[in-house]
Amino acid sequence: MENQVCLITGANSGIGQVTARELARAGMTVLMVCRDVRKGEAARREIVAATGNGRVALLRCDLSDQEDIVQLAEDVRRQHDHLDVLLHNAGLIGEKRTLTAQGLETTLAVNHLAPFLLTHLLLPLLRRSREPRIVTVSSEAHRFARLDFNDLQSEKRYAPLVAYADSKLANILFTRSLANQLRGEGITANCLHPGGVATNFGSGFGGGLLGLAMTLARPFFISPEKGAETSIFLASSPAVKGVSGQYFDRKKPKEPSQKALSHYNAQRLWEISEQLTRTRERMTND
Ligand SMILES: NC(=O)c1ccc[n+]([C@@H]2O[C@H](COP(=O)([O-])OP(=O)(O)OC[C@H]3O[C@@H](n4cnc5c(N)ncnc54)[C@H](OP(=O)(O)O)[C@@H]3O)[C@@H](O)[C@H]2O)c1
Repeated sequence: MENQVCLITGANSGIGQVTARELARAGMTVLMVCRDVRKGEAARREIVAATGNGRVALLRCDLSDQEDIVQLAEDVRRQHDHLDVLLHNAGLIGEKRTLTAQGLETTLAVNHLAPFLLTHLLLPLLRRSREPRIVTVSSEAHRFARLDFNDLQSEKRYAPLVAYADSKLANILFTRSLANQLRGEGITANCLHPGGVATNFGSGFGGGLLGLAMTLARPFFISPEKGAETSIFLASSPAVKGVSGQYFDRKKPKEPSQKALSHYNAQRLWEISEQLTRTRERMTND
């Protein structure tokens, strides 16, 4: 895997950090995308020390800000002539409804719109790889999605778990559309559920019901090492060469919810995502 380049978002913590470490151990050049340089640099040093691979770089980007994402893509394109694996791992669940710099609901923006925009901006680099893969960390929580296209940004009603579930459903719909569109080009797109994993995820929650549920569930969660296995498998295993458009759990394809299989949902979400990220406009200006 000497010449292989992998970009992974949210690589300073939890599932992302273990995934970055193991792909570095396998010999890949790893580009760690993190919003906090201090945390990111600490994680990068740990990975270099643990693997002996010096080709691990840190790129700063707050994925809630589309201008940051555009800058990130420019930096990557300037520094690398190809990209083999684009791994969308960063994610959050917001206790309260907040807005991004572009005025978008933060959960949808970070968990879905950021992967949507970043993928489009990095497609030219992926096209230069021999066997490019796009991997997105979704969740079984997608089964609780409401996906109300008239209130995709939870303006009328915000419930943290529903906003999160919607964004994770969006990950699967996006993956399926992408796989269809890129099939002729040999670029694969898959997504996954990592399991219930003991990470920092949701640790910012206060004393509400969801915070209590997370605290109670934590002892039953698997380790980040175990939780990263399916991400690593989809990013690097020859066993999934050519496999595309699938949702995986424990390294096996799994049927997602009916909402995730709907062509109407996939197409509608794609159109809205294009508008909210101004993707077409950005690609023509490119
Ligand atoms: N843990 C679970 O049980 C579980 C289950 C199903 C799915 N997942 C999914 O797994 C993925 C990884 O989560 P995790 O469990 O490893 O949680 P985690 O330890 O909290 O890691 C999340 C990562 O995303 C980053 N991130 C969040 N907002 C960001 C932003 N605006 N810009 C850039 N980076 C941002 C975080 O950065 P900071 O450290 O700076 O906050 C962190 O590096 C997520 O997509 C999550 O939805 C997790």
